[in-house]
Amino acid sequence: MSETSRKRVLLAKPRGYCAGVDRAVQTVEESLKLYGAPIYVRKQIVHNKHVVSSLEAKGAIFVEENEEVPEGATVIFSAHGVAPTVHESAKARNLRAIDATCPLVTKVHHEARRFAAEDYDILLIGHEGHEEVIGTAGEAPAHVQLVDGPDGVDKVTVRDPSKVVWLSQTTLSVDETMETVARLKTKLPLLVSPPSDDICYATSNRQHVVKEIAPDCDVMIVVGSTNSSNSVRLVEVALQYGAKAGHLVDFAHEIRDEWLDGVTTVGLTSGASVPDDLVMDVLKHLAARGFGEVEEILTAEERLTFSLPQELKRDMKKAA
Ligand code: F3S
Repeated sequence: MSETSRKRVLLAKPRGYCAGVDRAVQTVEESLKLYGAPIYVRKQIVHNKHVVSSLEAKGAIFVEENEEVPEGATVIFSAHGVAPTVHESAKARNLRAIDATCPLVTKVHHEARRFAAEDYDILLIGHEGHEEVIGTAGEAPAHVQLVDGPDGVDKVTVRDPSKVVWLSQTTLSVDETMETVARLKTKLPLLVSPPSDDICYATSNRQHVVKEIAPDCDVMIVVGSTNSSNSVRLVEVALQYGAKAGHLVDFAHEIRDEWLDGVTTVGLTSGASVPDDLVMDVLKHLAARGFGEVEEILTAEERLTFSLPQELKRDMKKAA
């Protein structure tokens, strides 16, 4: 068999859109239809360049803060969640606020509120400055301490070691988070764990399939944006589990020919905020370079869907 005919792509599944991203994007699209353009969206609705520019083309205006939204206009909060102060400032500006926070992020917000009400110290494992972390910490700023990975454990100080819980950002590396928790437990043996996993099903499933295929890959290509936490983690996981190289690209044309030099097997996946069209573009790009054989590796079926935010559903019903 010639070298060319052995070239193949291992296509990971699950990949791409998760239920929370799908709901957030639909929230913007349905709001545009119902209320008309422009619709303001606070922060990138999901961390993907292509999705953001497609929604902009349909009439969405992305802003950083509520103060940039004209009084009385409609604002949508992104899938990553917001602190209660953001809801308050929307109210103060008389904005029609629609909350597209992923329900799995909302679950972590509830946990933060509940443990804060019981006066726990909350160790929030996550990346400093990430919107989700800012939103979750904002639920109980006096109780939350950020732990940015295993190296952050040494800095942790608590009031009462018997009243401490850890929570986490939903899009972290599963392995690294477990390492952080193990270190925290060595330091704080009475540390309480969250009632259920905070790292969401989509993050874990996308990492799991990458772990399966990485050892066979000369290079792993992850479609996703650089500000997408879960996409960046997929490159790291691929490298950790044996892929010889790994690259994050927003679009197929960013793939450099030299990445494919001497390569037999390319792994391909995408972050939770990436529409599958972009992955199909990468497959075409690879096929044109001799990687026409594609094997999809499936490690989990995903059937979860979330319904649209209540406030939007109510207005859609009224308009029907
Ligand atoms: Fe939600 Fe997880 Fe997606 S938290 S937005 S289902 S990556």
